[in-house]
Amino acid sequence: MKILVIGGGGREHALILKLKESRQETEIFVAPGNGGISKIAQCVNIAPTDVAKMTNFAIEKNIDLVIVTPDDPLVMGMVDALENQGIKAFGPRSVAAVLEGSKSFAKSFMKRHGIPTAEYQNFTSYGDAKEYIRKQTKYPIVIKADGLALGKGVVIAQNETEALEAIKNMMLDQCFGNSGSQIVIEEFLTGTEISVMAITDGKIIRTLTSAMDHKRAFDNDLGLNTGGMGAIAPHPLYTLNLAQECNEKIFKPTIVGMLEEDRMFKGILYFGLMLTKDGPYVIEYNCRFGDPETQVVLPLLDGDLLELILAVCDGQLENVEVKQKPGTAVCVVMASGGYPLAYEKGYIIEGLEVASLLTDTKIYHAGTTLDETTGNFLTAGGRVLGVTAIGNTLDEAIEKAYKAVNQITFEKAYYRTDIGKKAGGN
Ligand code: AMP
Ligand code: GLY
Repeated sequence: MKILVIGGGGREHALILKLKESRQETEIFVAPGNGGISKIAQCVNIAPTDVAKMTNFAIEKNIDLVIVTPDDPLVMGMVDALENQGIKAFGPRSVAAVLEGSKSFAKSFMKRHGIPTAEYQNFTSYGDAKEYIRKQTKYPIVIKADGLALGKGVVIAQNETEALEAIKNMMLDQCFGNSGSQIVIEEFLTGTEISVMAITDGKIIRTLTSAMDHKRAFDNDLGLNTGGMGAIAPHPLYTLNLAQECNEKIFKPTIVGMLEEDRMFKGILYFGLMLTKDGPYVIEYNCRFGDPETQVVLPLLDGDLLELILAVCDGQLENVEVKQKPGTAVCVVMASGGYPLAYEKGYIIEGLEVASLLTDTKIYHAGTTLDETTGNFLTAGGRVLGVTAIGNTLDEAIEKAYKAVNQITFEKAYYRTDIGKKAGGN
C-alpha cells in the first residue's frame, strides 16, 4: 500500500513509525517530512498547504491513502480535493474541519447541542467588542482569534487594558491576518486540562489514551505558551467515570451534532477539556492529532493503526476495536533556545545514536534536517526533538525519558525538567 503522509513534525514521525508496525506492507511518502523521518520514509518537497501540487503528486504516484495531519490543509479542504479525485484520504473534509478552523463556529455549535463550554460572545465588529470589554468586571477574561493562528490566537487578559490591547491587535492591527477579523470573548475557566483524542468515522467514536500537555515554555508552567513542551499519557485524573461522563455529554453529542448539520466528521477529533468543579468543559476542538500528545498516545496504542485509519475511511469503525497498552508514556520536547520566539538553527545534534539504543525509548524528530554529506542531523526548528519513554509507572517513564534527554546535546538546547511532575511524578 502506497501511503502519503502530509506534515513534518514530531507528531508525523510518531505516526509514521506506528504505521510501519502494520501487518500490511507499506511504502510511505511524506510531504515535507524532516531529517529523522527521511530515514524511514521518502520525503517529498511539497508544502502541506499546496493542495493542487499535493493532489497531482498523489495521482502521479498512484497513492492508495493520504493521511492529512496538520490543521491548515484540513481547514483548506485538502481531503475534499483528494476525495474528489477518487483518492482515499484520512481526515475531515473542510465543512467538518471548521470545528477547529473557526472558534466562533465551534462555540455556537456547542451551544446548539448543549455541550458544556465556557460562556462566550462572538464579535465581528471592533466597536462592539470594545464596548463589551468596557462593561466587564470579572478578570481574567479569554480572547480568541476565530481562525487558525499557529496556536497563538488565545490571550488570557488579566485586566481591561490587556483585553483592549488584545482585541485591537487581533481586529484592527490584524496580527493574525484574517484569522482575527472575528473573535470570541469567553469566560475564564479554572480546573485541570485534559487532552482526549478520538478516532471517528462520523458515526462511531473511539477514544485513544488521554493525555496531559505542558504548554508553557519553562518549568512550573512559567513562560510563554508554546506548541507544547512535553506530554504524558494517560492523564491521571481521567478516570473511567469521567470518561463515561465525557462520552455522554461531549463526545457523542459532538459526532451526532456534526452529522445532523451535514458536517460528518471523519478522522481524529481532539477534545481539549477543562475539568472544572462543575465537570468537564470543552476548551477547544482540534480536527487532527495533537502535538506532542501523539508522541505519547500512539506508543501506547495496542494494535494496527493503519487498520483503524482504513476502517475510518471506509466507514467501518464499528468493526474494529481500539486497545491500549498498559503503562505510562512521557515525552520531553527538546527545543531551540528562544523558542517560541526567535531562535537559531543549523546546530549539530549529538548523542542521538546512544539515546536511541536505550530501552523503551523513542526519539521523534520534529525540527531537524539531515546533512547528507556528513550524515549529521542539524536543528531546523523551534521544537527539535520529542524524546518519549514508556514505563510501568509514571516515575519510571520520567526517569527513562530524561536519561535519554541527557545523552543528547546541541547548542542552545533547552527543555523542561518537570514533565510529568504536575501529574504526580517525581
Ligand atoms: P487553545 O488555543 O484554544 O488551546 O487555548 C490555549 C490555552 O489557553 C488552553 O490550553 C488553555 O490553557 C487556555 N484557555 C483557553 N480557553 C480558556 C478558558 N476559557 N479558560 C481558561 N483557560 C483557557
Ligand atoms: N498540543 C496541542 C495541540 O496540538 O494543539
